[in-house]
Amino acid sequence: MRVLMVAPPGAGKGTQGAVIAEHFHIPRVAVGDLLRRNVAEGNDLGRRVEPLLGRGELVPDEIVLELLRQGLEQARSAGGGYVLDGIPRTMEQALAAYRVARSLGMTADVALHLRADDDELMRRLLKRAAVEHRADDTEPVIRQRLKLYREVTAPVLTFYERRGILLEVDATRSVEAVSADVLAALRARAGA
Ligand code: AP5
Repeated sequence: MRVLMVAPPGAGKGTQGAVIAEHFHIPRVAVGDLLRRNVAEGNDLGRRVEPLLGRGELVPDEIVLELLRQGLEQARSAGGGYVLDGIPRTMEQALAAYRVARSLGMTADVALHLRADDDELMRRLLKRAAVEHRADDTEPVIRQRLKLYREVTAPVLTFYERRGILLEVDATRSVEAVSADVLAALRARAGA
């Protein structure tokens, strides 16, 4: 099973990505987590991306595509399945990610879109802010992340719809209800 997730901040990419990875025994490649790990380590890459993450802006393509390539190569060694969280964010990334995955014989079976409205997303991220203190979980930066998603990421969904691999799920319900729908739909596709 090869799944990529296209969803706004707070929709549950991390949460549902972990559920999918556990259920199908596949690795989860989460670009945001990898970037934050580099920031925490204070290495060159981390220093370069830290201000961009803090402002809710996109990191340059060459960085995320290299993380993608590394993640997919590890996934190939682990059996070839994956759940990809955080990429693509632009049409250019979608096309580049497709080329990278095709060169490895690992193009996605499903593009999972978790749908949720901005009010619900803002509520979730501000709630998380009180617990986790992520640098980009402040109200103005969340607004910027949501704006970027609506303007440059959401149009990518059409690409996956045309390829016939788009799966849409209402992500405004409980975590358990969303997981149940996601897993049922993915199992159906895996058996199809
Ligand atoms: P990234 O880490 O990917 O952040 P994001 O897209 O803003 O998404 P979040 O992690 O905030 O939310 P999520 O959808 O994973 O939801 P989660 O499960 O955590 O990226 C961070 C930054 O890295 C970007 O802004 C950018 O700078 C850079 N970056 C990353 N990828 C890039 C790329 N490809 N190109 C360029 N730059 C890139 O859930 C959120 C909260 O809601 C949690 O507290 C959770 O417990 C809760 N929750 C989840 N589901 C539910 C539910 N059903 N009901 C109630 N609460 C829920």
